[in-house]
Amino acid sequence: MSNVFYAPGEQRAARVNDLFAAIARRYDLLNDLQSFGWHRRWKHRVAKLAGVQPGGRALDVCCGTGDIAFALARLGADVTGLDFSQKMLEVAESRRLKNSKNGTPSPIFIQGDAQEIPFAAATFDAVTVGYGLRNLTSWEKGLAEMHRVARPGARLIVLDFGKPANALWRKLYFAHLRCSVPLIGRLFCGNADAYAYILESLKHYPAQLAVAEKMRGLKLANVRVINLLGGAMAINYGEKAG
Ligand SMILES: C[S@@+](CC[C@H](N)C(=O)[O-])C[C@H]1O[C@@H](n2cnc3c(N)ncnc32)[C@H](O)[C@@H]1O
Repeated sequence: MSNVFYAPGEQRAARVNDLFAAIARRYDLLNDLQSFGWHRRWKHRVAKLAGVQPGGRALDVCCGTGDIAFALARLGADVTGLDFSQKMLEVAESRRLKNSKNGTPSPIFIQGDAQEIPFAAATFDAVTVGYGLRNLTSWEKGLAEMHRVARPGARLIVLDFGKPANALWRKLYFAHLRCSVPLIGRLFCGNADAYAYILESLKHYPAQLAVAEKMRGLKLANVRVINLLGGAMAINYGEKAG
């Protein structure tokens, strides 16, 4: 099955950018509908796992509308959210403005490519990414960049759709991504293809086990995989060697 928003190689980034431009305004609502609101819990867990101290510096790449970046900021970190989509960043920025009116701590948001992070090596105490690596032309390059900008001892956390080990559960879950998720996309966002893309991109992404393997290859310490919903979602965790 191919998808209008999925293209291998050089076209990949442009199609992904088109996709998020098309759905940015409805992105948060659709996340709530698709996951029954659970994505908030998982993102909060990512922020807690990042272990940032008040005043510590955190980077959330592929930040989108900013959920993880805001969660990190609420924990007292000095947070930067980075994304390449102007439209997604506009939503993040309007959330930031609302927060600043009531004094809630907020990240700053910048536009940039997760595969060429515009910061010097060893800048951040934690680097996170939620539902982002899967969308990159090279997820390996994205992870290597997260590692480069992390300080020794910093935590790297990756949240994304996973591939359940249990064959029956994987079949049911993929059927949900193939049928219900695009239907929700059509009904609430007028765009089934943008949501059918999730399954297409997941097929081309080796998911939690390969991310853990790559983390080990980067010599991260305490590498672990936290499977959620039987591996349908997963958090990869590792610490940059000191
Ligand atoms: C599925 S959204 C995730 C947003 C947010 N992290 C969340 O968990 O809700 C993926 C985000 O990755 C961004 N993205 C994809 N490729 C990127 C790249 N090469 N550089 C920076 N951002 C990218 C998209 O613009 C989009 O906002």
